Amino acid sequence: MKKRILLGIISGLIAGGGLAGCTEQNGAQKMTAEGSSKTAGSNAEVSAHWPQLASGIAKDPAVEARIDALLAKMSTEEKVGQMIQVEIRSATPEDVKQYHIGSILNGGGAFPYDNKHASVADWVALADEYYNASMDTSDGGVAIPMIWGTDAVHGHNNVIGATLFPHNIALGAAHNPALLGKIGAATAAEVKATGIDWVFAPTLAVVRDDRWGRTYESYSEDPDLVRAYGGEMVEGMQGAAGSEDLLQGKHVIATAKHYLADGGTLNGIDRGDAMISEEELVRLHAQGYFSAIESGVQTVMASFSSWNGEKMHGHKYLMTDVLKGRLGFDGFIVGDWAGHQFVNGCSNVSCPQSVNAGLDMFMAPDPSWKELYKNTLAQAKNGEISAARLDDAVRRILRVKIRAGLFEAGAPSARAFAADESLIGAPEHRAIARQAVRESLVLLKNNDQLLPLARNQRVLVAGDGADNIGKQAGGWSITWQGTGNQNSDFPGATSVYGGIANIVQAAGGTAELSVDGSFEQKPDVAIVVFGEDPYAEMQGDISNLQYKGAGDLALLNNLREQGIPVVSLFITGRPLWVNPHINASDAFAVIWQPGTEGAGVADVIFRNADGEVNHDFKGKLTFSWPNDAQPTVRNPGENEALAQFNFGYGLNYGSSVQLAALSEQSGLKISDGKQALAVFNGRALDPWSFQVMDATNNLSVISSSVAKLAGISVQSVDRNVQEDSRRLQWNGEGNAMAGFFANSRTDLSSYLGKQGALVFDVKVDAAPSDAVSLGMNCGMDCGAEQSITELLKGAAPGEWKTVAVDLQCLADAGAKLDMVLSPFYVRTAGALDMTVHNIHIASKTVADIHCG
Ligand code: BGC
Ligand code: BGC
Repeated sequence: MKKRILLGIISGLIAGGGLAGCTEQNGAQKMTAEGSSKTAGSNAEVSAHWPQLASGIAKDPAVEARIDALLAKMSTEEKVGQMIQVEIRSATPEDVKQYHIGSILNGGGAFPYDNKHASVADWVALADEYYNASMDTSDGGVAIPMIWGTDAVHGHNNVIGATLFPHNIALGAAHNPALLGKIGAATAAEVKATGIDWVFAPTLAVVRDDRWGRTYESYSEDPDLVRAYGGEMVEGMQGAAGSEDLLQGKHVIATAKHYLADGGTLNGIDRGDAMISEEELVRLHAQGYFSAIESGVQTVMASFSSWNGEKMHGHKYLMTDVLKGRLGFDGFIVGDWAGHQFVNGCSNVSCPQSVNAGLDMFMAPDPSWKELYKNTLAQAKNGEISAARLDDAVRRILRVKIRAGLFEAGAPSARAFAADESLIGAPEHRAIARQAVRESLVLLKNNDQLLPLARNQRVLVAGDGADNIGKQAGGWSITWQGTGNQNSDFPGATSVYGGIANIVQAAGGTAELSVDGSFEQKPDVAIVVFGEDPYAEMQGDISNLQYKGAGDLALLNNLREQGIPVVSLFITGRPLWVNPHINASDAFAVIWQPGTEGAGVADVIFRNADGEVNHDFKGKLTFSWPNDAQPTVRNPGENEALAQFNFGYGLNYGSSVQLAALSEQSGLKISDGKQALAVFNGRALDPWSFQVMDATNNLSVISSSVAKLAGISVQSVDRNVQEDSRRLQWNGEGNAMAGFFANSRTDLSSYLGKQGALVFDVKVDAAPSDAVSLGMNCGMDCGAEQSITELLKGAAPGEWKTVAVDLQCLADAGAKLDMVLSPFYVRTAGALDMTVHNIHIASKTVADIHCG
């Protein structure tokens, strides 16, 4: 397979290291149009795989005329301001006024006035502050209402007391498109109450490799289901296209995200690369967008990921030719969290390439947005961004604002339903969420028909998920990763245990909560609630499908050994290999991440007061469940034989299937860490390739023997045999990096605890003029660096020496050794001339670089 680069991940490293010095150069950068022929520049012909579509909302000549009039009055400064979205933590209302900013957002876990427990009134008050700033024309400008976007991805999840619906993977299992419409409408109503106009949902990812940490944000690995759901969700949020209701009343603007193929990245790597044909792109990953567009979705968010090596934020063919052309999308495209910086040649503060490719609004969440504004303004004035493109972007933004009625709506606090606290966590919204919980549960095992349980029993409720609303809510719940919450952060919510206790106690039974499973009096039955802890993007990726719950397994076995029937309720954001736990349970149900209405679980697993089935299990898997823990892709039509439970599986109370013991062979090959593993021995060893990120943020895979790039040149040189070493010369003209990267993960964890080290030979010909870091990377926000400045400075010039870096240090500093993407890279902004030879991972070493 051709080696590809992890653009985002490598750029992220450099960006994280600071891009000082790059800023001025970027303004002068030309667009690099390498890669696919369907890139920037020409209007590529759109492939016949794409259908011709039209938005569900027809263009209105009156609206267009109004936009013309506004555009005619706006200065270039005002136009550029519309194209920049800032974050509430890094831009004040005064900034919005001064820079004519078009939009604000609050990121996951960002609250008004930095108060996690901000009231509904606080949200509205802050919305008013930004709105008033945007409408202030004291400087002679045009009044254009700002628009506020938020991640209400399973309910209004940044707001205390909001209804949190089950995550999308659970909604998929419910196979109920109409329910999606109700959830969309309820979410929109809660958002509207806080004075916010726009929601960054639905996610239309069709996730194919479940190791991706955002699998739970996906309805299904099946494109048809995502298509059936996408339009319904948009309609629920925005109101039906063509109706009086559209974007009025309790409705908000929806976003189809992340365009395109976020769920198709190779090896399920977050922000990775979807290396697939165009036919697959359309057939698998674009389907949800079709129904969303037909339902009139007004915004689309660009994906961090790439398609065949080219970043979506810079993809003219897919953004402009396909989405805005063939698919008839006439709303605007917003970027994703500074995602423009990963486009070749771009930085956080300059990226005309993105605008020229079709991005209409930069999401610019950090304080550097002022630089981005300045550079974009300069580019609009000097023609790097054409007047036509500028006007088109602003036209699209204004079109959406006009359609949403924002020009007439007045201040957020003056709008209908604003600050209506009764909408937040409203009983009718919670009822919908509880229904969604009931319909999403998937029963995998029910031997001897243990379920449904009688109510009037002695029930033990165990496991760390039993009374843990943060855990049952998953990521994107109050905080970004969903971590650090207490049950008290979810007022009005019900835990799984809470729901069980209500039912059982009312019927005269007892429900004893005991996380560790200990009890005083032997129960009739034990319900054990366990599974994945919350995570979100970047932090949720895993290297294989094993559920690492040794403690939970011991708990199940312990109860079983005492002759207690065991019901397992598995909280998870994705299918995981959990056969030992299934074997240790009499009944096993996947409850996904049900959100705040945990009572929906007891509704199903208990009989009603008359002893009849109360609610049957309805959920069916929309993701294939693995039969071992190997990191193999399993989808309909792809390795179906390797599914323990196929797509569509799910028992109900009518079935009497006795599940025999499942295989407990995980299939994982654990290396013993005794053999050294070569990374580079004259050539880059599979899966790695030699890559350089130059000082202007251009990334290249180097296969030639000499390459001269901005700030760095590399050359193959001889030590013992021909071209067995690489000379790396930095000239001090900016931060540049060279190293070995892969698009798949390597498990190096077996070297830990065995005096494992990253070992390489180095010869220094010119000592570093600035700090030099040696790094190991395992994905976005995952990795570790060690300083090698002193070591290089102390090296005898021109002489080879062997260096060993203790792997434990890298692990302690944040490198996840079981999921390494880059075992070795070096970066510096200074000048340095060094040559490397024989890079490998070994055990039983004496390290030169220790922890601390
Ligand atoms: C924000 C999230 C965002 C993430 C991306 C966080 O700080 O709160 O909303 O998605 O950063 O890097
Ligand atoms: C995520 C998006 C989200 C945005 C704003 C990004 O990191 O990928 O899904 O909408 O942050 O929080």
